[in-house]
Amino acid sequence: MATMATSAAIDLAVRGTLAFRPLSAVAGVEITGIDLAEPLAPENREAILAAFLAHHVLVFRGQHLSTERQAAFTLQFGELEDHVIRLGDGKPPPLVHVVSNLDEHGKPTAKPYSSGNYFWHTDKSYHAIPSYATLLHAVDLPPEGGDTQFANTAMAYAALPEETKQRLAGLRVVHSWEASRLNTGNRPATEDEKRDRPPVNHPLVRTHPESGEKVLYIGTHTSHIEGMDRTEGRALLAELLAHASQPQFIYTHQWREGDLVMWDNRCLLHRAVANYEMAKHKRVLHRTVIRGTAPPV
Ligand code: OGA
Ligand code: MN
Repeated sequence: MATMATSAAIDLAVRGTLAFRPLSAVAGVEITGIDLAEPLAPENREAILAAFLAHHVLVFRGQHLSTERQAAFTLQFGELEDHVIRLGDGKPPPLVHVVSNLDEHGKPTAKPYSSGNYFWHTDKSYHAIPSYATLLHAVDLPPEGGDTQFANTAMAYAALPEETKQRLAGLRVVHSWEASRLNTGNRPATEDEKRDRPPVNHPLVRTHPESGEKVLYIGTHTSHIEGMDRTEGRALLAELLAHASQPQFIYTHQWREGDLVMWDNRCLLHRAVANYEMAKHKRVLHRTVIRGTAPPV
């Protein structure tokens, strides 16, 4: 009993009213003792940012935010992103938008328009200035499954053999919306979308701007490696993705009602998991994305 009490005391950090409980060694910390619908006290914002840097995935439990409140919470950490995708009416989605498996009639489907989310990626890596963080708030969850997985790309980089690290140094990767659509078997990008989001390139090994750690900056939005034979470059990207998505680098988030999850796109890959009856149960989340900074050349 004494041992359990000690380990609980080590695991659970309390700062002010906030309690932080790490969820895995890879990523994830559960945060309780705060209502995100209220403006953040400066010391809470600071504690949240410190946890974000240390744990990469923040899991706030028991939240019930309107879209306005979610936008207001998000704006306390940066600027909201807009989106390339156009809805059925030709309009972009609102800044707080819905990620779901619903079709245009509101019925669950096994082929949702956001099916690209089911492949490993880091949000908006096809932007010259990719995103800092993404926030998802659970609205409607399947009775079981429908998890989100996160892979820690700093740990994955650190685990590479020295000669591979040397081979990767200085390589640049082309990311594009067009490649993303092809890689995920989605309808091809339209000419308008391609004009809106031309290909960009980023270092394959990115330095996290706050931790200074090196990470593998890869995923399903990648097209090829600059200056390398396409087939060879794509094979290397696929090999690195297979390496980075091994179980020892993954935290699997099992959603609970009231969860708001915020993650760091600069050092994680993530994907939705189709481990639920997609054609039967609704899975609806509200999403906001915060603009980041350009990876240094
Ligand atoms: C996203 C995303 C994964 C999920 O919203 O960016 O990839 O589990 N979502 O829905
Ligand atoms: Mn995503």
